[in-house]
Amino acid sequence: MTKIAVAKGDGIGPEIMDAVLGIFDAAKVELEYEVVEMGKWVFDKGYSNGMTPEAQESIESLGILFKGPMETPKGKGVKSVNVTARKTWNTYANKRTFQTLHGVDTVFSKAGIPIDITIVRENIEDTYGGIEHMLTHDVALGRRFITRPGSMQVIKYAFEMAKKKGCRRITCGHKANIMKITDGLFLEVFYEVAKEYPELNADDVIVDDLCMKLVSRPDLFDVVVLTNLQGDIVSDLCAGLVGGLGFAPSANVGDHISIFEAVHGTAPDIAGKNIANPTSLLLSGIGMLQHLGMTETSAMIENALLYTLESGVHTGDFGDKSIPSINTSEFSASIIKNFGKLPAHNPRPIIANHYVTPTHFKLEKNPMIESLEMQQEEIVGVDIIIECNEQPNDVAAKALKHTMDLFKLVTISNRGTQVWPKGSVFTNLVNSYFCRFESIGDVPVTQTDILELYKRMTKDYKVSSIELLNMWGGKKAYTLAQGQ
Ligand code: NAI
Repeated sequence: MTKIAVAKGDGIGPEIMDAVLGIFDAAKVELEYEVVEMGKWVFDKGYSNGMTPEAQESIESLGILFKGPMETPKGKGVKSVNVTARKTWNTYANKRTFQTLHGVDTVFSKAGIPIDITIVRENIEDTYGGIEHMLTHDVALGRRFITRPGSMQVIKYAFEMAKKKGCRRITCGHKANIMKITDGLFLEVFYEVAKEYPELNADDVIVDDLCMKLVSRPDLFDVVVLTNLQGDIVSDLCAGLVGGLGFAPSANVGDHISIFEAVHGTAPDIAGKNIANPTSLLLSGIGMLQHLGMTETSAMIENALLYTLESGVHTGDFGDKSIPSINTSEFSASIIKNFGKLPAHNPRPIIANHYVTPTHFKLEKNPMIESLEMQQEEIVGVDIIIECNEQPNDVAAKALKHTMDLFKLVTISNRGTQVWPKGSVFTNLVNSYFCRFESIGDVPVTQTDILELYKRMTKDYKVSSIELLNMWGGKKAYTLAQGQ
């Protein structure tokens, strides 16, 4: 029998996990559970990553983690256990499915507009690297990672999943019109992968337009793939379309380890009262059973859940207020009682189980994901970021003294807007300037040349940071300042 790791989590986690495992037991799901120690309560015991070494070892050897919500400890410098788990085990694709559920009233269900959207969100990169620094007392700077191999992993997963599900359309949501290099790379990879799937209608939408279209015509979308932060926001928006976070399942899929969890948090306001809605965790568990090829059992449980919702049975957080709500245990008992019944709307097809045993990987070293394509690389300049509250012309006058015969000062910007050689006195300034030096004649320079320039600039200013300006295959690998 397949064994999986289970972490019940914090707050309502243990209540809803017990409810779901009770439903699984009644359905004779062929799984063995190893309950592992993970969550805020483990963090409080002194484990800084929120899990015991034994829990980490079990999850890494079993390959599947079914988890309840976990509280993020408050305080600066403390990372979320949930995010740490997703990142450490490289569960690069966060898949969330949003479907109309009859019995869960929304404006769309009342208008007869069906929703069936799958959001695939990149789960590792973007601003979730949490790489942020104060450049000055006034200026915070965050870094955003978008990588070619990371984008490739999640986008390939999205196309493959869309193909298997028989979807018509796959859409990339992005903001490449503004973030030309980062989102531009994600979009480029999307269309590269799209070439391998001619049967799918691949298109792209700018993320703000996507949000507007999702709330006006959600039925037009099928699979949407996005970078991490935009995907996070858009998937909660989609949860709202189908009745809220209580109805949104989530799978974090990787090559070695996958994590199935509810989308909502630990609901501290209702914890310990046996009134939480276990639907989101149950739907996530159903997704896990499908992942493990237990298609017949998962369809039986899902049909019972849909039948129960259709019949008007509900916990306190949703449903027809004229029908009294029931508690968590009663809700799961109702589902068990409805095993074998089919909902009137969208019954799930019963497909014979085809068990997939999770592969037990023993990795000796960290996998290096790298694209093979190498381009000729040259350093042609540097952005030197300085702390300073002088006027742009005064900064330029000093910076120009340090260019040696190698560099020219091409632009000075403040918050991304050019303020020298041209600018406007109406541009508000903060005490951090980017001074861009390019090599004269675009000839390649060395890191030692850059260090010399850096050293000279420190005579006048505190240098907060530097960024190299690279040319790859003859193309600029950096953006221009606004107005440059
Ligand atoms: P939350 O999702 O826990 O609660 C928001 C509201 O929704 C509350 O009123 C709560 O009672 C209600 N709610 C949530 N789930 C429910 C359910 N199953 N049944 C009935 N009502 C439900 O979000 P909040 O309050 O922002 O976060 C609480 C904690 O959870 C924080 O420490 C946060 O970091 C953590 N969290 C963990 C997540 C995870 O483990 N994946 C995801 C989101 C938050």
